[in-house]
Amino acid sequence: MKNTEQMLTLGIESSCDETAAAVLRGGRELLSNVISTQIPVHRKFGGVVPEIASRKHIVNVMPVIDEALSDAHVKLSDIDQIAVTYGPGLVGALLVGVSVAKALAFAQNVPLIGINHLEGHIFANFLSSPELKPPFMALVVSGGHTALVHVKDYNHFRMMGQTRDDAAGEAFDKVARVMGLPYPGGPQIDALAKEGNPDAIDFPRALAEKNNYEFSFSGLKSAVLNYLNAQKMKHIEINRADVAASFQKAVIEVLVAKALDAMRETGLDTLVLAGGVAANSALEVRLREAAAENGIAFYYPSKILCTDNAAMIACRGYYMSRVGEFADLYLNAVPGLSLTDKGE
Ligand code: KG4
Ligand code: ZN
Repeated sequence: MKNTEQMLTLGIESSCDETAAAVLRGGRELLSNVISTQIPVHRKFGGVVPEIASRKHIVNVMPVIDEALSDAHVKLSDIDQIAVTYGPGLVGALLVGVSVAKALAFAQNVPLIGINHLEGHIFANFLSSPELKPPFMALVVSGGHTALVHVKDYNHFRMMGQTRDDAAGEAFDKVARVMGLPYPGGPQIDALAKEGNPDAIDFPRALAEKNNYEFSFSGLKSAVLNYLNAQKMKHIEINRADVAASFQKAVIEVLVAKALDAMRETGLDTLVLAGGVAANSALEVRLREAAAENGIAFYYPSKILCTDNAAMIACRGYYMSRVGEFADLYLNAVPGLSLTDKGE
């Protein structure tokens, strides 16, 4: 029996438009991290086309796994356990990863671990910051989710609040789309906002009252659309950089205020950022400042670990295996999987 620190976990991720595989030794030593993105394929359509995503995953999944094994200088037979995302995400896309993981686990006779993608995003921080330990507050901001999660220890979480409608990343993508920017819109808005005035337009901040940890971004999205239409009708030229900067500021202000509020309520002193929107430079800067002003330790993953990857899935898998949370070969994709409270 291998020492757990030597244990090799193969992570597999295929929930949306990235096919990814990674090999992790122990809980934090990343040996390889391969990501094959389909962004150029979906860009033509202005967003992810589920059917195309599934087909691309089928084509890419084995080459990506082979590359992850070879980058890590290990063989499939060296792998001790396989962790795979089983939700949330696109069902056809998830099923590719889940099916491959089940087949490999069966063939190699190694344990299978079913991973919640959102928990994976949080765990990306353990790879970027080896000194990080729970408890902490996690602000998860991705294309599909916006949530504040109290991470009590490696396997106990409490959902403080999440979005009632659009996720933060979804709002970035939709606003970018109406501004004629390519998919995914987040990085485009991020870049454009750098040239704009964040105080140019006063967009609404929803659910701003204290101790409310729910988010809502659909009103903000509509306000941006209305603004753009109104300017067009009045034949006033739109300053796109100002729109991007003002929209981004509205999103960031709400995220920062609610994160600080949740920290105050729980008395936690560590804040962790996670998910694709964590790659937003202004969000990172603002959270870093707010954390410093409030004596809070602040962590966020390196850019490559912010957006979808399998390293974070392997990391989450390692910590689940430590407490015997394995799946069986009946594991199915759960597209609407939520991050539910675990333990008290
Ligand atoms: O976590 P992720 O890779 O996929 C999901 O699990 O949803 O997040 C993708 C989201 C997209 O909405 C994308 O526009 C957004 O993250 N994103 C950004 C930035 N980079 C990626 N949003 C704002 N600023 C960025 N720099
Ligand atoms: Zn994600």
